[in-house]
Amino acid sequence: MAVKCFVAGLLLVVSPMFVYAQSNKMPPDKMPPKATVLWTAEEQQIVDSGDATRGKELAERCSHCHGENGIGVEPEVPNLAGQLAAYTYKQLQHYKAKGPRNHNPMRRRVRRLSNQEMADVAVFYESLPPAAPDLSQPPVSEEITKLVTHGDQQRGLTACAACHGERGEGAPIDTPAIGGQKIEYFVTTMQLFAQFERARDVYNSMCDLTSRLKDDELQGLAGYYARLGGAKLATQ
Ligand code: HEC
Ligand code: HEC
Repeated sequence: MAVKCFVAGLLLVVSPMFVYAQSNKMPPDKMPPKATVLWTAEEQQIVDSGDATRGKELAERCSHCHGENGIGVEPEVPNLAGQLAAYTYKQLQHYKAKGPRNHNPMRRRVRRLSNQEMADVAVFYESLPPAAPDLSQPPVSEEITKLVTHGDQQRGLTACAACHGERGEGAPIDTPAIGGQKIEYFVTTMQLFAQFERARDVYNSMCDLTSRLKDDELQGLAGYYARLGGAKLATQ
């Protein structure tokens, strides 16, 4: 008994320290829950079995915000057209679980969806053509283009293209396509990562990175990807 108490006590003391050490100097109480989708074989199968026809029907209740064609109708509503189904499925789970992504209007729309329905709607949105280039955006500076293609070694920033692809098309299994995304949504969601308000993915890729970018760089990167327009992965 005494030994058990000692071990339990030790764990209580040690585990928050461990989390703290892992968390990029973030106090444990500020850490949001991690991703809730860990891509077990079962989860992958659910997404693979998504049915675009059923998804299209379900998406009728999403279209007054995300558009009939998956292009958001307001600046803060993200485009979903052409997005990787696995990524969309995961985000729907994150809104439903509340902690990883906290957004009440979205939560209300997804809380009654089953896993299969989430897969259906995700596959439907993946089947749509992605956003066209927004040529009203001015071309960005060389520094911004360099962040995309080379990153910044001094600040330990990996090139965006290394993960999101040269055309912003994303990568398997759930690195999102970001080409053609809405500027306002893009900047807001990058800020949410930086403030640890949006869940880290299992590798903590985005939170570490976004906190080292300046506000004007976030704007510049959003402009770069809007002007680039959307692209789909070749395998899709
Ligand atoms: C009232 C407007 C509204 C409705 C209706 C709505 N959404 Fe959203 N959706 C939003 C907003 C705003 C965001 C951005 C929220 C945030 O910042 O996290 C969002 C975010 C998302 C995202 C995250 C996209 C990304 O790139 O990470 C997905 C996926 C999504 N919605 C799917 C759906 C689906 C599927 C439905 C219908 C079942 C739906 N939405 C209904 C407004 C809406
Ligand atoms: C190490 C890989 C990696 C690098 C480098 C990276 N990202 Fe990401 N990014 C991800 C992953 C993984 C996600 C999805 C996180 C999740 O599951 O919510 C993501 C999500 C995003 C999102 C949210 C998309 C949406 O629809 O909500 C944006 C915007 C984004 N990244 C932009 C960038 C930019 C700009 C850069 C370069 C400065 C960059 N990323 C560098 C892996 C990376």
